Amino acid sequence: MLAKKVKKSELENDGSLLSPMYGSRNLREPVPRYELPENQMPPRAAYQIIHDELNLDGNPALNLASFVTTWMEPEADMLMTESFGRNYVDADEYPQTTEIHNRCVNMLARLFNAPEQNAAVGCATVGSSEAIHLAGLALKWRWRRRRRQEGLPTDAPNIVMGGNVQVCWEKFARYFDVEPRYVPLTPERYVIGVEEAMELVDENTIGVVGILGSTYTGEYEPIRALNDAIVELNHRHGWDVGLHVDGASGAFVAPFTRPELEWDFRLPAVTSINVSGHKFGLVYPGLGWAIWRNQEDLPDELIFHVNYLGGDQPTFNLNFSRGAGQVIAQYYNFLRLGRKGYTEIMQGLDATTAYLAQAIESVGCFEIMSKPGTVPLVCFRLAPGTVGDARAGEAGPGYTVFDISDHLRARGWIVPAYTLAPNAQEIAVLRVVVRESFSRDMADLLADDLRHTVQLLQTRGPVPSPARHARRPRIAAAAGARHEPEGPKTARKIC
Ligand SMILES: Cc1ncc(COP(=O)(O)O)c(C=O)c1O
Repeated sequence: MLAKKVKKSELENDGSLLSPMYGSRNLREPVPRYELPENQMPPRAAYQIIHDELNLDGNPALNLASFVTTWMEPEADMLMTESFGRNYVDADEYPQTTEIHNRCVNMLARLFNAPEQNAAVGCATVGSSEAIHLAGLALKWRWRRRRRQEGLPTDAPNIVMGGNVQVCWEKFARYFDVEPRYVPLTPERYVIGVEEAMELVDENTIGVVGILGSTYTGEYEPIRALNDAIVELNHRHGWDVGLHVDGASGAFVAPFTRPELEWDFRLPAVTSINVSGHKFGLVYPGLGWAIWRNQEDLPDELIFHVNYLGGDQPTFNLNFSRGAGQVIAQYYNFLRLGRKGYTEIMQGLDATTAYLAQAIESVGCFEIMSKPGTVPLVCFRLAPGTVGDARAGEAGPGYTVFDISDHLRARGWIVPAYTLAPNAQEIAVLRVVVRESFSRDMADLLADDLRHTVQLLQTRGPVPSPARHARRPRIAAAAGARHEPEGPKTARKIC
């Protein structure tokens, strides 16, 4: 999030003041909104102002847009509260925190089937985005090392990925000067095409990305097929193109629901994997993990050694200080749940997802686009030809998934509507992520509200919502829509 300084001339009247609701008890003066207040205020007053203002946020439990954990057990809350003051990066001061971090990396490397004879390495990150930036950098350095050894130019690295990648991949390419090569989707294929990807790979390709769980539809990309094609290409040309698996969601799901699915270090081309601890790792935001198959896949030049906290500390992170609470909470989940606990939770989410998909289908005008046995979410669109669907050219008011999303918001549900990535951007969908806090009862309630919403839209048509346009970009960002700073935006074609 990027915030801009508000000019005083832009403020309506003297709107720079927070109205002190409890003024007569605690506050004698108005509180400025955009300037540091001159004076102190009692802790209770500061708490109450902020607490009340946060009531305007959505209810996290009804935020069906987000993959991110909104509930943990009280014991995890306690550990996190006890760890507020603990700095993750300060290994000398907090050696046991570092030990816990190392245990988590070991557990994840084994969960992802890193070969026992290899020295897999890894680290905690703020989320999958940071993990992806680190993994992308490692791919770039690895490619450059090899090119330099062969006396070849290193000025034009590229990376190959589906057009459905999350925005963090676009950031990586732009921030770190790597040409992004996108495999466009098609109206029938919503993930990377293997042949199409291989056509984009050349000697300057630092790596190929396979997503275990597309942000848009939850579908698993064909990682095994990508692996086989890369192995063959490397063999044919003498290249060493790596495969990175973006397992932001799926890498904490597939090991428990589909252990037979080969998508991880069992595949020889897979050099690195990222996963979000704060998604299906079931930890509060922000926690991610990056794991490399081999020490050599993480070039030494990227690791810095610092001694100013005492002792020698290797660091590979974009930032330095951060709270240790999330890492500790991840370890809590690992100990508390074990393989069996995670399996039961993920199987439960799968069952709720199937139940919700059925309930949504029973409304009668939606087509389910997500596939069972992938990320626990339901992605759906208005079935072509639905009465009132603006696409169908029917007489009648005409409405869209964006209208449905707006109407649901009035009931408190946050269900994002967005278009798929190019060249499937004609398809507009709704998506519900099924987290632990989402019950079958809530699935029934949501399906009922969908039914009422559609009936209302079919008879009365959409009612313009003032908040709608302000809200859309945020929803698009949450869905991972492509961010283009210049030129026309991807058309938000409505069905
Ligand atoms: C496939 C994929 N990759 C990366 C990310 C970024 O993850 P994070 O929010 O943990 O940085 C997401 C987030 O939704 C995602 O779905």
